[in-house]
Amino acid sequence: MAGRMPPAAALMDAVDMRYRITDIPEELLSALLDNPYESLILIDKDGIIRFMSSSNEGIYNVSVKDAIGRHITEVSPDTRLHLVLETDKAEIGESMVLKDKKRIVARLPISKDGRIIGAAGKLMFLHPEKLKELFERIDVLEHHIDYYRHELNQLYGSKYSFDNIIGQSDKTRAVKALAIKAAASDSPVMVMGESGTGKELYAHAIYEAGLRHKNAFIRVNCAAIPNELFESELFGYEKGAFTGAHPKGKPGKFELADNGTIFLDEIGDLPLNMQAKLLRVLQEKEVEPVGSRTPKKVNFRLISATNKDLESVISKGKFRLDLFYRINLLTIQLPPLREVKEDIPVLINHFLKELTRDRKTYTISDQALSAMMQYNWPGNVRELKNVIERAMIVAKGDSIAFEDLQFSKQKSFGNGQHLFSKGTINLKQVLETTERDTLAEALKISQNNRVKAARYLGIHRTGLYQKMKKYGLD
Ligand SMILES: Nc1ncnc2c1ncn2[C@@H]1O[C@H](COP(=O)(O)OP(=O)(O)OP(=O)(O)O)[C@@H](O)[C@H]1O
Ligand SMILES: [Mg+2]
Repeated sequence: MAGRMPPAAALMDAVDMRYRITDIPEELLSALLDNPYESLILIDKDGIIRFMSSSNEGIYNVSVKDAIGRHITEVSPDTRLHLVLETDKAEIGESMVLKDKKRIVARLPISKDGRIIGAAGKLMFLHPEKLKELFERIDVLEHHIDYYRHELNQLYGSKYSFDNIIGQSDKTRAVKALAIKAAASDSPVMVMGESGTGKELYAHAIYEAGLRHKNAFIRVNCAAIPNELFESELFGYEKGAFTGAHPKGKPGKFELADNGTIFLDEIGDLPLNMQAKLLRVLQEKEVEPVGSRTPKKVNFRLISATNKDLESVISKGKFRLDLFYRINLLTIQLPPLREVKEDIPVLINHFLKELTRDRKTYTISDQALSAMMQYNWPGNVRELKNVIERAMIVAKGDSIAFEDLQFSKQKSFGNGQHLFSKGTINLKQVLETTERDTLAEALKISQNNRVKAARYLGIHRTGLYQKMKKYGLD
């Protein structure tokens, strides 16, 4: 058959129609199949060209008129399109040299009622220079991402130091001292504590004060990575490891942390299969990227954190004991805020200063302070910070009143007990006792420096003198 077949009719012959192509005006179908941006060839089950879009004329040096009715190999000797008729397997994204240029093609078998009736060949990008442009743009974007990732690391790296850790209670001082010692060693450190106790803060400070503070600080939140991405995120992958992978491969977090520090936050959420791999990395000091058989040496310092009681997670078989021993060489156990209540006034003052937006100096009323001293703080320092932040917004003047406080659990006072569990209470007495204790603590931590103590308490010096007199603290 030498004549040119109308494109729409060719398609109707070849395609299993699920809707009525005949309803589409032929000019539209022709434009769809035959335009300067697409390149399509349809062959029948014998490999005979039944349709060829005119953009192919320049590629194969043959007119559409001459091509129709000839075997595909006569027009394109290197083609594989006719082979698809036998294999019945689509070949998508294959490269092929046409007119000295590498092209990306798709070859699709077409079947009807279970029988092959033809195949379609398509250049996926008619103009390969466009493809090159696209790759170049991706390269530029990746370069930008690398740059911002680095900047972000810098930002993270110097975000907190030990100076940012507030608290003067004996417990807090002891924990801080231990953490400073831990920072100076190069061993794995584990930071444990309830949510909001400052684990991340400590991890940053340990990195900052550590031997490797000039090198990368790579943070990994184990609870935030989807399961299927864990391995490639942590250990990286080689080029061509899987579909969708970056053509050059990608380094994992451990590689990025080489010579630096890696912080595995929420390590209690690490899936068991990843725990096995992590153990290997810690023992062998090498990582094996996905799709690679050659391990890469890595040298890093590990800091991990969890708010889970790992021992109970271990007893449930969800965390490996051998890994626990490896990562838990030095444990920094952060106390919940309810156990270091003496830190509350200092923390309040710290946040009042840190969170002020208009350089206004906020103070806290005695009643508000006393309520904060009694509260149980299930959300620890984070909750305290949030309560202060909110109170500063709703406060009428520059002093925070009891009414401005909103706790997450309004009744969670004392040691988790209801304030009225012992029957009635005398509010005045509670306030006074708390006030007295707080004053005493402020004086203690300021080593009897009254100016400092007044500042910690957010009250005026004369106010402090009056109250000291009232409680016999002078
Ligand atoms: N001792 C502290 N001094 C000053 N700020 C603190 C202190 N402890 C915690 N914070 C602040 O409280 C907030 C929560 O701290 P962080 O994120 O480190 O807690 P976390 O223990 O990691 O909590 P989670 O388990 O929920 O992740 C942060 O804004 C942090 O800066
Ligand atoms: Mg955290």
